[in-house]
Amino acid sequence: MFEPTSADYLVLGAGIAGLSFALDAAERGTVTVLCKGDAGVSNTAWAQGGIAAVWDDEDTIAAHVTDTLVAGAHLADEQLVRSILREGPPAVRELIGRGVGFDRDDGGEHDLTREGGHSARRVLHAGDMTGAAIQRALLDRVREHDRIQLIEQAVAIDFITERKVARHVAKRSLGIKGHEAMRRYGVAGPEGWMPHTPDRCLGAYVLDATTGGVKAYQAGATLLATGGAGKVYLYTSNPDLATGDGMAMAYRAGAVLANMEFVQFHPTCLFHRGAKTFLVSEALRGEGGILRLPDGTPFMDTVHPMGSLAPRDIVAREIDAQIKRHGLDCVFLDMSHLDADFVRSRFAGIHARLSPLGIDIATDPIPVVPAAHYFCGGVQVAADGATAIRGLFAAGEVTCTGLHGANRLASNSLLEGAVFARRAAIAAGQYVATGGEARPAVPDWDAGDARDPDELVVIAHTWDEIRRLMWNYVGIVRTDRRLQRALDRVALIRREISEFYWDFTLSRDLVELRNVAMVAELVIRAALGRRESRGLHYNLDCPELDDEHWRHDTVLRRPW
Ligand code: SIN
Repeated sequence: MFEPTSADYLVLGAGIAGLSFALDAAERGTVTVLCKGDAGVSNTAWAQGGIAAVWDDEDTIAAHVTDTLVAGAHLADEQLVRSILREGPPAVRELIGRGVGFDRDDGGEHDLTREGGHSARRVLHAGDMTGAAIQRALLDRVREHDRIQLIEQAVAIDFITERKVARHVAKRSLGIKGHEAMRRYGVAGPEGWMPHTPDRCLGAYVLDATTGGVKAYQAGATLLATGGAGKVYLYTSNPDLATGDGMAMAYRAGAVLANMEFVQFHPTCLFHRGAKTFLVSEALRGEGGILRLPDGTPFMDTVHPMGSLAPRDIVAREIDAQIKRHGLDCVFLDMSHLDADFVRSRFAGIHARLSPLGIDIATDPIPVVPAAHYFCGGVQVAADGATAIRGLFAAGEVTCTGLHGANRLASNSLLEGAVFARRAAIAAGQYVATGGEARPAVPDWDAGDARDPDELVVIAHTWDEIRRLMWNYVGIVRTDRRLQRALDRVALIRREISEFYWDFTLSRDLVELRNVAMVAELVIRAALGRRESRGLHYNLDCPELDDEHWRHDTVLRRPW
């Protein structure tokens, strides 16, 4: 066995990106994978639709590229899009090789479904629980691997970086403030102080949620694959763990974040007073489902040539407009014109979830509303998954790779996670093999005078406040006034959090709250900065697309 808190590779997150990277990296060294909760729970595991890849002879990479660029409102990086989508079919074959069973038709060929914005059937799926099938297979392979250690209930708090270590040393040994030390000397290196260079990641401080202890996990290279941040919003299709931890940690450490204003709202999540928000896959519309008003009127055909299967930003905005125009709680998805047996068996997972609520998806109108679903922005990475911090790589929803632009094409994200995991594993392997730099000694976590919080309710209330204001002011349709109001409120909340954060004993809730507030602020700042409407960012005060001035990423970086 290897030393539990030190490995060649540290992986934060155990969805498709984290697990795929771990399997590749384990060919070159030891790997520790940390997951915040139970290993089976991730955004990947909750993905229903499938994974998009050109699979059929009639389909082409060029068509997939065009659909991706159009859905992304022409903000995506065309060259990168092409290269990722070319790697799609091999990435899918790799998943199949690792034991993922995608559905096949009666002739034994893989069944391909269709989703919004796709001009062809190119989505491989495992019923309507594709993500769960991927998660299960990859987790099995990871658990079997003797060079991979998987640790659950491990909540990453912050990255350990060379600069952070330097500040600590400066404070402790030289008695000067960290920032002053950095200004004077640069950063601490193996041979003493070094001039300023890009910072370097040495690992992460991690809270053991079962014991409350904090450990320093060190590694030659670290992969960030913590997924998205749907929980920043009141209503979301995401599991509870999607609190933007990786984005917030990366920002605090000095990485670059891009396109945080582009939050995708999935048009069709279940609306039911007796149930939590639940995704009703776009694949239902891919198979012919029609969006209707309560009186049965279909409303998408006059909005877009693809009708109910238009790109997500357009469908979500139209549903939002119809709900506001008619004072509705929700609209309805109708599958009743399709073969009932087909609908119930093809969408067995959704059928099983909705029938206890008295909804038969084959015959009853399904009440749906949009909900926060996917962050198209995140930690900016190069084509090999490298971030602006040496030794820190990233893959999956936590990143902004340049694939999605201003709006993600359905089912492109599992593909992106798999492709970037592979690329990052190669780049991290080279970094570890050639880096060879000695690492400074990492100080233990200093809990200071932290005590148990006497009012846990403060955490719950603050979280609720952030999620509500994000929903109300930073949602599908935005205005400058709403965004400014949200920024003022979040700035106040962040000040309050920083006042009590270091006084209280750390818990998963407290770590998440700090991250949710950070990500909320980044979304608002990016949204206020973009003076046009494009893709998922729609601002009534600047409703036009402005290619001349705004066809570029919105970049945020913490000032030092
Ligand atoms: C869905 O099944 O509708 C979600 C697929 C995706 O978000 O890519």
